[in-house]
Amino acid sequence: MTSERECFVYIVPPGETEFVTAARFRVSQTRNGEPIGEFIYGKRYMERSDAVELDPVELKLGDNRYETARMGGFFGAIRDAMPDYWGRCVIERNAGRPALEEFDYLMNGPDDRAGALSFGLTATPPAPRRQFNRTLDLDSLQKMAEIIVGDQVNQIDNATDARLVRELVLEGTSMGGARPKAVVEENDGLWIAKFSSREDRWNQPRVEHALLNLAKTCGLGVADSKITTVAGKDVLLVRRFDRDKTTGGYRRHRMVSALTLLKSEDTRTGRERWSYLLLADEIRRTSASPTADLRELFGRMCFNAIVSNLDDHPRNHAILAKDRSWRLSPAYDLTPTPAIAQDTRLLAMICGTHGRVARKENLLTAAGRFLLSGEQAEIIVDNLIKTVRSEWDASLRRAGVSEKDCASIAGALIYDGFFYSDVTH
Ligand SMILES: Nc1ncnc2c1ncn2[C@@H]1O[C@H](COP(=O)(O)OP(=O)(O)OP(=O)(O)O)[C@@H](O)[C@H]1O
Ligand SMILES: [Mg+2]
Repeated sequence: MTSERECFVYIVPPGETEFVTAARFRVSQTRNGEPIGEFIYGKRYMERSDAVELDPVELKLGDNRYETARMGGFFGAIRDAMPDYWGRCVIERNAGRPALEEFDYLMNGPDDRAGALSFGLTATPPAPRRQFNRTLDLDSLQKMAEIIVGDQVNQIDNATDARLVRELVLEGTSMGGARPKAVVEENDGLWIAKFSSREDRWNQPRVEHALLNLAKTCGLGVADSKITTVAGKDVLLVRRFDRDKTTGGYRRHRMVSALTLLKSEDTRTGRERWSYLLLADEIRRTSASPTADLRELFGRMCFNAIVSNLDDHPRNHAILAKDRSWRLSPAYDLTPTPAIAQDTRLLAMICGTHGRVARKENLLTAAGRFLLSGEQAEIIVDNLIKTVRSEWDASLRRAGVSEKDCASIAGALIYDGFFYSDVTH
């Protein structure tokens, strides 16, 4: 960091479709050179009857000046609205150089980022965009994604491709995550297109689609998805649950990751707080329907253990505010991990009093934290096991997963060690 950087924070209030200016955010350096973030809500925003907080943990509505020295001065709710691994790759390609300042990633992202926030240098917010890529553009989007992933820098040296990168792929890069993706519009709303990637062990779009459907069959709340095929390649489309199309434009719902709720980050010490139990405590405090949301979260945690979705890190969980109040968001990004140890598997987050070990006995130790009795928790786990056992094969096949891929995935589902009674692995 070489200098002080500052911007305005815009938000689309609940029920509205236009941005209003909500706050100012600045990152500067302390005398010893450490970056420090400052955030203050605007007076005019605070006077609005529809003013809402950016998040329910760090940036509650008030006239305080918030400061943070964590994460280079970036508050969790702001970090959630920034591009992640994939988006950063695209922005760097577009800029023609790697490793921009953190603030540049914030300012360079397009305004289709997750949640209701946007950022800019003018006191008046920009008009919300009306034009999105159509699903028809998926062919070009996918090709550009392949060029970017393939590190074929010289291939985007020519002016036409460079323009395409700018026009096509830069749209949608503010969504987080590592997998190549873009945001596309269909008549009824916005979808995230997740492309296949050369490193995939199986037809990932179809497998993820099948798992999302399997979770739905298990009674869990899950994002809608479908498969489309462009130029012979399958693409997973996941409906954005943080946007609602109205005649006047898009409503934007605030969205905050579990990483932010847990006041955590992706570092060694940050990971100590990656815990479903701590997340349950936060949801109990922030959700408008804690009992229902905790039961759902418990179900998702158990589902992840049963299907070996071991990449269930806290950016793969979120809370959503469609109006003033917060609820657990629908589930998304469900993927089995390729066949691994049959004895012990670890979730990305602590899931019981014995840590991350994905075993029924360990999951049941957490029941009380989810406001469930031991008996209720056991019924939930047993029903999930029963449904996954009877439905997984059909779910994969309905999604068009090949015989060979089904065989590779079989080892991920209901592994032997799930039932071991020794919870300490
Ligand atoms: N249906 C949805 N509606 C709104 N936002 C979503 C939806 N699905 C995902 N997101 C947001 O987009 C981000 C990236 O999506 P996702 O997790 O599916 O991508 P990924 O690249 O597979 O992630 P990872 O890096 O965890 O593998 C999520 O962290 C979440 O913030
Ligand atoms: Mg993800």
